[in-house]
Amino acid sequence: MNRTIARLMALTLIAIGLVTVSVGMAVAADKDAGKSIYGPRGGYGCIACHGINGKRAIQDYPNIAGQDKKYIEQQIKDIMNGKRVGSPNAEGKPRTEGMKGSLVTPQGKPRMDNAQIKQVAAWLAGQEPAAPKAPETPYDPARLENGKGLYKKYNCKNCHGNDGLKPLKGYPFIAGQKRDYLIAQMKDIRDKVRKNGKSGVMVGFVKKASDEDIEVIAEYLSQINRAAK
Ligand code: HEC
Ligand code: HEC
Repeated sequence: MNRTIARLMALTLIAIGLVTVSVGMAVAADKDAGKSIYGPRGGYGCIACHGINGKRAIQDYPNIAGQDKKYIEQQIKDIMNGKRVGSPNAEGKPRTEGMKGSLVTPQGKPRMDNAQIKQVAAWLAGQEPAAPKAPETPYDPARLENGKGLYKKYNCKNCHGNDGLKPLKGYPFIAGQKRDYLIAQMKDIRDKVRKNGKSGVMVGFVKKASDEDIEVIAEYLSQINRAAK
């Protein structure tokens, strides 16, 4: 091999090495950026409502640690632009209002851009999911079994996977989510209060579910441990 070619090849290899290192650094920087957007330091105060690392969310707010990345991105956008709303909270306001209020200026200008939404979603998707919260009075095992049966009966697994653990791409994980949050979302999607994104595909499957069915399914799903699977 001639020396010039050998030198050129060596230089090319160094260049490829440098590109790989800088791509690696960009990914790491993205993750750090995602964490800073989330809080506690700087950022948009997501932590105040969704808890440390997206786990112990306050009240009946959703745990978002380990949720599907694309799904997270879509929901943040839809809540900010008002496509996703929820039934009224205790103060009589749509349950999405607080988050919208903190991420959109009073003039209606989004505080986060698409790149930041992607960064925070990537970081959250990489966090370990929350462990199920045991209720004060343990659920009757027969009731949980009944929930599992209803989950089968309504074919929820077609889209969310067995026990809510393996959703289709871009669809939400629902295993181990909070009971009250699950109930609110199932009812909101059934009653077409929540119509954003792909919610429409689910309506036919929950249409016939009674409030009681929904509560039983939610209790069963809320006790499934994603970390243990
Ligand atoms: C003032 C409280 C509050 C703040 C601040 C807030 N959220 Fe939320 N967020 C909520 C509530 C409440 C919901 C659920 C609304 C509902 O029940 O319909 C929600 C829903 C979500 C969802 C959808 C979850 C799902 O399973 O569908 C994501 C993702 C999310 N928030 C991410 C964020 C991120 C990231 C930030 C910061 C950039 C943030 N939120 C800031 C209260 C908040
Ligand atoms: C045909 C597919 C499909 C079926 C079947 C289906 N879902 Fe869904 N479900 C979805 C999609 C898609 C979303 C997210 C909608 C969006 O894009 O915002 C969703 C959202 C949800 C949510 C809200 C998740 C969150 O984090 O906010 C819950 C809870 C849920 N589904 C429970 C169920 C249950 C229980 C059943 C069975 C009774 C069911 N789904 C059947 C597609 C489906």
